[in-house]
Amino acid sequence: MISYNNIYNLPEYYDVAFSYDIKHEINIYRKIFNIHVPFEVKKILEPASGTGRFLTSFPKYGISITGYDISNPEVDFANAKIKELKLEGMAESIVGNMESIKFERIYDAAINSINSIGYILKDEDVLLHFINTSESIKRGGVYIIHLDFCPEKYPVVDSVNEWHCERDGISVNITWGLSHVDIKNKLSHQYCLLKVNDNGKHFEIKENHTLRLWFYEDLKEFIKKSHNLRIESVYNEKFEEIDRKGEITGEMGNLYFVLKVL
Ligand SMILES: C[S@@+](CC[C@H](N)C(=O)[O-])C[C@H]1O[C@@H](n2cnc3c(N)ncnc32)[C@H](O)[C@@H]1O
Repeated sequence: MISYNNIYNLPEYYDVAFSYDIKHEINIYRKIFNIHVPFEVKKILEPASGTGRFLTSFPKYGISITGYDISNPEVDFANAKIKELKLEGMAESIVGNMESIKFERIYDAAINSINSIGYILKDEDVLLHFINTSESIKRGGVYIIHLDFCPEKYPVVDSVNEWHCERDGISVNITWGLSHVDIKNKLSHQYCLLKVNDNGKHFEIKENHTLRLWFYEDLKEFIKKSHNLRIESVYNEKFEEIDRKGEITGEMGNLYFVLKVL
């Protein structure tokens, strides 16, 4: 049994573990573009793009995409997949940190999937990320944030997600759980356990992840301070619009926050 320490530096296993069908997510993003962006969305940005699940999917719909990620191995892995699928020219991955990277205002929209924004912990870094990202997007475009560990009003410690994926002789059982919620410091301490069978070689990868514990009130505050964003809509996984006048809590499940660039 081997224990590694960072799944994001082991892209060959991450990519299998998260190889479930993302057609539903892609459809939600595309519906949001159609409803909320007054021009055709042809070019998007994906902060924290990982092994490139979205980088290799959006080009099928005629949308070109630039992703960036802090993990060099994931960026290399994504670029190899892009090359293999002959998608160069429509997709690319570069190394970058959500806390500081800046682009020109050339994108029509940006997406941030499965709570990757949660890896930015400090308020000042979150605010800078919103300012930099909104300045990379044309006016009228949107930044869509998918928060799937949205804080529950009464967070359930020991809540666990388990799933299984396999491909090319590699099978992975994943357990992703919440171990401790630190409301005072707005931190969510989570753990991830991957049981891997790589063509007969069995081992486990265990690690802890600390993510920001998001509250809707904080999101509103960051958006106000960023000056050039507005919360336009919030959708749930069934693509039902959430009433933003009511309370928004984690009990509503995974939510898509649509931020409009002013
Ligand atoms: C849950 S994965 C999601 C990856 C990808 N968006 C997807 O849907 O498969 C979170 C990603 O965030 C990246 N990440 C964490 N902190 C980051 C940072 N400060 N800047 C850029 N990427 C970061 C990790 O390397 C990892 O690839």
